[in-house]
Amino acid sequence: MHVELQNIRKHFGSVKANDGISLTFEPGRIYGLLGENGAGKSTLMKILAGFQPADSGHILLDGQPAHFANPAAALRAGIGMVYQDPLDFPPFTVLENFLLGKDRRLALDFRAASAELKHLMGRYGFEIDPQANIQSLSLGERQQLELVRLLAGGGRLLILDEPTTGISAEQKDALFASMRHMARQEDRTLILVSHKLDEVQELCDHAYVLRAGGFAGEHPLPCDNNLLVEKMFGQVPRRSPRPALPLETNLLELQQVTVRTPRLTLQNINLTIRAGEVFGLAGLEGNGQELLMQAIAGLAPIASGRLLLAGRDITRHAYHQTLADGVAYIAAGRLEEGLVAGLSLTEHIILSAPRVKQTFFIRWEGARRVTAERIQAYEVVGTPQSNADQLSGGNQQRLLFAMLNPDLKLALLNQPTRGLDVRSADYIWETLYRRRAEGAAILFISPDLDEVIERSDRIAVFSGGQMSRIVKASQTSAEELGHLIGGRQ
Ligand SMILES: Nc1ncnc2c1ncn2[C@@H]1O[C@H](COP(=O)(O)OP(=O)(O)OP(=O)(O)O)[C@@H](O)[C@H]1O
Ligand SMILES: [Mg+2]
Repeated sequence: MHVELQNIRKHFGSVKANDGISLTFEPGRIYGLLGENGAGKSTLMKILAGFQPADSGHILLDGQPAHFANPAAALRAGIGMVYQDPLDFPPFTVLENFLLGKDRRLALDFRAASAELKHLMGRYGFEIDPQANIQSLSLGERQQLELVRLLAGGGRLLILDEPTTGISAEQKDALFASMRHMARQEDRTLILVSHKLDEVQELCDHAYVLRAGGFAGEHPLPCDNNLLVEKMFGQVPRRSPRPALPLETNLLELQQVTVRTPRLTLQNINLTIRAGEVFGLAGLEGNGQELLMQAIAGLAPIASGRLLLAGRDITRHAYHQTLADGVAYIAAGRLEEGLVAGLSLTEHIILSAPRVKQTFFIRWEGARRVTAERIQAYEVVGTPQSNADQLSGGNQQRLLFAMLNPDLKLALLNQPTRGLDVRSADYIWETLYRRRAEGAAILFISPDLDEVIERSDRIAVFSGGQMSRIVKASQTSAEELGHLIGGRQ
């Protein structure tokens, strides 16, 4: 199917998300859609997938004008999409969710559908229980389910908006292999929206670049990364260096900490983190690193052992207490855990304040002023009145950082740069380096081993609830971490 977008325009109030964009997509090819945070990529793809209408412009399928009232209509015309942040999840099981949008006959045959689901999961190395409730899945698992649903759907044009943020390197290889197969053997069109330029270079035939709602250029792939980066930002952004810092005082101490959940147990964890230290946690999702963070934050109960913050015992503190202690936790799932879709930015800033300060903040004038300051400091594209779900993915991530309080001692960050373009990611790390210079420690999880090595002082790897020996970032490699992730010491 030959797909053409002609002069697509979509404005949100004064924001020109798409301002007259024209692109062509040929069958049998894989396209990369690039652009900095807020450039208009998701907006354009949601229009193509029938999720929202354009203000003006045309969609042509094999030369014929098409109008999609909703995603189901687009799917009938052969266009399917996996959204950047899996949007809303009704209280269904995995299998029921998979059956949505399937044709009636198959929908009634649970056994056949279950077999198909298992087959597809196996093909990509995904392990999700078909009977599990969607609400119990992690962010990565939700993305995996969405991917399987899309790939099973048989569309002619498939759009994947940041699909690799929740899957492992091996799962990504399997996904890319099937994407190649679908393009080369089945003559389908694929569009990959991603900030990971290496992935785009590896998989795609051609790149389109958007900038500030407009078309900024295109290039056949592979090509020099800098050519793409220049089109995205107008110039090649400089990288902020990581300042050296003496690490002297102990800030956080875990003594024989044990955490038990139905899915996983962490046994007798010992760990000391110093003021000013950046400590990276690596490992496949669900191997204990997230649970450890939640236990420190007071979001998962510690069964035994002790947790000390600046010498003070906070083992039994609940989340609102640890927040007042100067600990902050940023979750990976922006719109599922960290942000509330229908609340304004001001309301988010109010919610993020420790309880003692909330009475002050609840005076709206003050709260709006603080919000405006934070929006400026973190360069969030939005206003105090904007709702969180109106922000682009990268700006939602910036909002999470704007919610960190000034007197922070310990930041617990789950995938802090997920979905950020290189410049925004660098910017976020710059703000974190400033926190660190003020004596805060940073504990973070990232699936990107290069980021873990570049940004951390020390690193621990989690595998099956076991924490590896601790390695110095300056003395390790992605290869060594890979071995540790595979459970080899
Ligand atoms: N529903 C909405 N209401 C108001 N503004 C919106 C809405 N959706 C998007 N926008 C705005 O449109 C602009 C483009 O957003 P879009 O989500 O398309 O960016 P993006 O290129 O996908 O960015 P990212 O890489 O951060 O995901 C942003 O400034 C965003 O705030
Ligand atoms: Mg987006």
